Amino acid sequence: MTPGAEAAPGIWQAAYIVAALTIVLSIKWLSSPVTARRGVISGEFGLLFAIIGTLLRQEVVSFEWILVSMAIGAAIGAPLAYLMPMTAVPQLTALSHAFGAFAAALVGTADYYKAIAEGHPLTGATMCAIVIETVLGYLTCTASVMAFGKLQEIIPTRPMTYKGQNFVNLTLFAIAVALGAWMIYEPAPPWVFPAYTGLSLLFGVLLILPIGGGDMPTVIALLNSYAGAACCAMGFALGNRLLIIAGAVNASSGFILSVIMCKAMNRSFTNVLFGAFGQVQEGGSTKAAQRPVRSATAEDAAQILSSARKVIIVPGYGMAVAQAQHKLRELSDSLVKRGVDVQFAIHPVAGRMPGHMNVLLAEADIPYDRLHEMEDINQDFAETDVALVIGANDVVNPAARHDKNSPIYGMPILDVDKAQTVMVIKRSMNPGFAGIDNELYYMPRTLMLFGDAKAVVGEIAKELPVHA
Ligand code: TAP
Repeated sequence: MTPGAEAAPGIWQAAYIVAALTIVLSIKWLSSPVTARRGVISGEFGLLFAIIGTLLRQEVVSFEWILVSMAIGAAIGAPLAYLMPMTAVPQLTALSHAFGAFAAALVGTADYYKAIAEGHPLTGATMCAIVIETVLGYLTCTASVMAFGKLQEIIPTRPMTYKGQNFVNLTLFAIAVALGAWMIYEPAPPWVFPAYTGLSLLFGVLLILPIGGGDMPTVIALLNSYAGAACCAMGFALGNRLLIIAGAVNASSGFILSVIMCKAMNRSFTNVLFGAFGQVQEGGSTKAAQRPVRSATAEDAAQILSSARKVIIVPGYGMAVAQAQHKLRELSDSLVKRGVDVQFAIHPVAGRMPGHMNVLLAEADIPYDRLHEMEDINQDFAETDVALVIGANDVVNPAARHDKNSPIYGMPILDVDKAQTVMVIKRSMNPGFAGIDNELYYMPRTLMLFGDAKAVVGEIAKELPVHA
């Protein structure tokens, strides 16, 4: 097909309808680990149909430039996807939001200047869509780059605050909104759009500065929502229904995810955006006290586990680092064969990304019916013989329940300390993500198994007494 020639509208419209349906179904299927793979494939097909539909439309000016852009995109995207370790997925997500939002903002900018060059004044509705698209696009772009920097520890993860910070941020945002309103109501002088763009970019940076690394996952979900809203606005500006649907799905799912994550960490949105979480607070148990702990060997652990009736396994970030999920599957299978009731408790923010533990345990073919959300399993710990904590730290720290000075105070945790015996596998007494000591390790019922999670779990599986 030559550029500018349009396929019969029925063809690209059909492609768009299939794309919209598969994208909506993808979100539905992604909500359960049982159907998540189907959700990913459906989303991929959705995007493929969206691209095909778009290429069949008459607006295409040059297929050569599109091919060059696709090659550049693939050259950046493919190595990122292959080379980034699973543990760095939050950073990768932040980067992809930055690219997506930047693309939306550039399209809005191009639309604005194209209309001026062609001497067609933009209607209030279109200008309104462009204003929303560009402010969200540019601020999401710089905010996502900042979030990437904080997660990658290129910039300090602690909240960077100063007096009057919220006032400065809100004032800048208000000025940007006023400039946007000016452009909507009447053709504004040439300096307004660049000033508006600059303020949006600056606001993205300032928005992230006071937010600590601990809140970054929630912020990334929120930025996902902003990027979706920017694409939705772009759909209105371009009159493209597929962009409106896909953008709205993205915006609402990102928003819902951030609400779920806020609940899981017991944080409010305003607190996340303005609260400077992660600051070391005086009096908080942030330093590892040199108190004695009880350590045990893999052989001890194997004995205790094989004589237990009920075991709940709690995986955390350390399991992901060690890639211990396959060894864990072997251990769990051996215990089940011995008649032990083995279940898995999943904290919503265990690991470093939403669903992190589910993905890894699913990869090791651990049956889904053994995986339980925190609220479904928490009451079971009191009647559990052994809680086996593998590379989890913050999500099992009892300080979250009672230590008002702790940075994680109020975050719902897995009540492993209520089990008869707690066994913790980790390499040292180092803290987890929140950087605080964990009183669980010093409890009389806790046994520490020091070592790499994969190696220790493998040793325990080997030491299990021979099954009759
Ligand atoms: P963490 O509190 O980060 O603790 C992980 C523990 O794993 C560490 O104490 C570490 O101790 C241990 N570990 C690391 N490598 C190990 C290995 N190879 N073998 C054995 N142990 C190893 O993890 P968590 O309990 O899963 O909590 C998650 C934290 O991350 C929360 O604070 C949460 O808010 C935050 N966060 C969550 C997300 C999402 S969405 N899930 C995203 C970003 C941040 P050693 O060094 O002593 O081994």
